[in-house]
This record gives sequence, structure tokens and C-alpha cells, in this order.
Amino acid sequence: MKSLIIALALVAAIPLPAHADHRTPRDLRDLAHQTGIRIGSAVDIASLRDEADYRKVLNREFTHVTAENAMKWESVEPERGVFTWADADALVDNARRNNQKVRGHTLVWHNQLPAWLTTGVENGTIDAAELRNILRDHVTTQARRYKGKIRAWDVVNEVVNDDGTMRQSIWLTHLGPGYIADVFRWAHRADPHAKLYINDYNLEWNVPKIETTLSIVKDLQAQGVPIHGIGFQGHLGIQYDYPGDWANVMRRFADLGLEVAVTEMDVRMVLPVTPEKLTTQAEYYQRALTDCLSVKACREFTVWGFTDRHSWVPGWFEGEGAACLLDENLAPKPAYHALLGVKKA
Ligand code: G3I
Repeated sequence: MKSLIIALALVAAIPLPAHADHRTPRDLRDLAHQTGIRIGSAVDIASLRDEADYRKVLNREFTHVTAENAMKWESVEPERGVFTWADADALVDNARRNNQKVRGHTLVWHNQLPAWLTTGVENGTIDAAELRNILRDHVTTQARRYKGKIRAWDVVNEVVNDDGTMRQSIWLTHLGPGYIADVFRWAHRADPHAKLYINDYNLEWNVPKIETTLSIVKDLQAQGVPIHGIGFQGHLGIQYDYPGDWANVMRRFADLGLEVAVTEMDVRMVLPVTPEKLTTQAEYYQRALTDCLSVKACREFTVWGFTDRHSWVPGWFEGEGAACLLDENLAPKPAYHALLGVKKA
């Protein structure tokens, strides 16, 4: 009898491999452990600094963080040659203290550029040659500063239009399409270990955008440019159908040897909130995580803010909101519990 008890005790002590753990996770960090993927959130840096309850939930729930705005060019170099790293450093330091990985967002975008840059290009005081040097210095300075502290960079963000044409940003207009290869090479030289991504929205379903982005990736790979991943932003709305082919689109990029990440997931709704809308929202979140887990190369699921208290949606979509996993009081919504119920395939 005694040997049986000892045997049972030894069996009970054997740690279950992550995928065999079928209990409902305690929280999203536990879900990340069980499923073996990074579960993250964009971080509003003012809230991280000023709101203890926000900071507590962020650090309890997430293994991965993205600077919502603190690492954008207008934030880090508001005046030419004058760098303001304090907010970005605060995010990176908090992540280090809380066993979180950091996603860098974003080195090159057409939005949130500092006025000195856009004005200089517009009035011609910054010509194409100088613009390329400025871009190289920006990418190199920022990627080098956080060398070894950023798991992956959104190197370029939103470079393709919804009709499949290349976005006519100041970068394409003045530097030509080669700027994309340039910035990937500069980022890789500055931080050889960081994974380098293209990030965009509507890649979940928009065929022209998907096809052009696939072509960009193949062209970069043919040039030997270091590109490692594709970021699907995942900004969904329950007033639209769920993008049912998302997993297959993920697989098409994965087949090129890329990592896949859900980088900015949120599911907005036309207000007011109702129990039915919350149920549909939960289904969308659940399907998105299930789609990610069904693709081996998808190992990151990041929400674009975790609380309705701080979401970009109300300011950008009039009459819409409630897009996040937790409400304004940081109480979990059905979508949060739906994610905890998702099992690894
Ligand atoms: O920092 C200024 C502040 O000084 C000023 O008082 C205030 C009022 O004008 O504006 C503040 O800047 C705002 C900034 O967020 C920081 O809060 C800008 O107005 C506002 O436009 C900006 O919005 C951000 C938006 O990108 C800009 O396009 C959102 O917070 C951010 O969530 C959103 O994130 C993007 C991703 O980077 C890329 N994918 C799409 C996603 C949603 O648009």
C-alpha cells in the first residue's frame, strides 16, 4: 500500500507538458504558458505611469507589451536631433521588471512623424538625399538604443493601400520603393537579433492588400533582405463579418518562412453595449486566437489595449467603442473569459 501511495505521489508530481494542461487558465499569462504563445497588450504610457490599477493588471496578465505611441518617431524625436526616450525607456524597464518581452512599434510609418520632418520635406529644405540619411539615422539610432531589448520590430507599418497599391507616403514619394529594403537592412545591422516585421491592417481579409504584401515579402527575400515576420493588426468590428479565411492567409505568409503575429487585436462595436454585442465580440476574439493557434508560425497574440478605459477606437470611430477585453473599471468582459477557454489545437 505504501509503495502505491509513493507511486501515485510521484506521478502527480510530474509536470504536465504545456499542451496537456487542460485546466482553465487563471489569467492570460497562464493561458500564454499553457498555449506556448506570447499574449500581449499595447501600453498607454501615461496610464502605466499614473494608474496603479492599470499597471497591476498589465503586469499580471501579459507576457508581451507594445508601446502604443511611445516609440513612434514624433514621440522619440520631437525636435531634430533632440531625443526624448523617457517614455519608451519606462515601458522597456517595466517589461524587464515584470518578465515581459517588448514589441517595437514602429520604426517607419506615414503617421505620427515629427513636424520638423514633414515640414522640411514639404517646403523642400529636406531633399531626397538628406531624407534618406535622416531615415537611416532614425532607424539605426532607435534600433541600436534598444538592441537586445526588443524581441520584434514593426519595421514598416501600413505600406500598402486597401486597393493593393503601394501607399504614396513621403518615403515612397521621395525615396522610391527601395526604402523598404533599406530600412530592414539598417534595422538588422543595428540589432541583429531582433525579428523584423511588416505590420498592416485588413490583411485578415483584403485580397489586393494580401497579394501585394506577399509580393513585397518575396521581393525582399529574393534580395536577401532580413525579414522575419508579418503582423496582422486585427482591428475588427462586430458590425462586420469575422474574416473567416484569416488562418489560411496566415498560412500563406508562414509558407514563406515567416513568423506570424496578431499585433493590434481589438473588436469594436456600435454603442451602446448590449449583452448580445458582448457575446458576439467574445466569439470574434475566441475565433482570432483559435485561428492563430491553428497556425504553427503564429506565436503572438497582442491586443491593442486591454481596457475600454484607454482605447483608440472612440476617438477614431464616432459612436463606436467597447473594443477591449476589460471594461473601464478593469472588469473582465465575456471576451476575456472566451480567450481563457481557447485550447491549443
Ligand atoms: O500626445 C498628444 C498630446 O500632447 C495632445 O494634447 C493630444 C490632443 O491632441 O494628442 C496627443 O497625441 C495623440 C496620440 O495618439 C497620443 O495619445 C494623437 O492626437 C492621436 O492621433 C494619437 O492616436 C494614435 C493613433 O495610432 C495615431 O494614428 C492612437 O493612440 C494609437 O492607438 C493608434 O495606433 C495605431 C497603430 O500605431 C498602428 N495601427 C493602427 C492603430 C490605430 O490607429
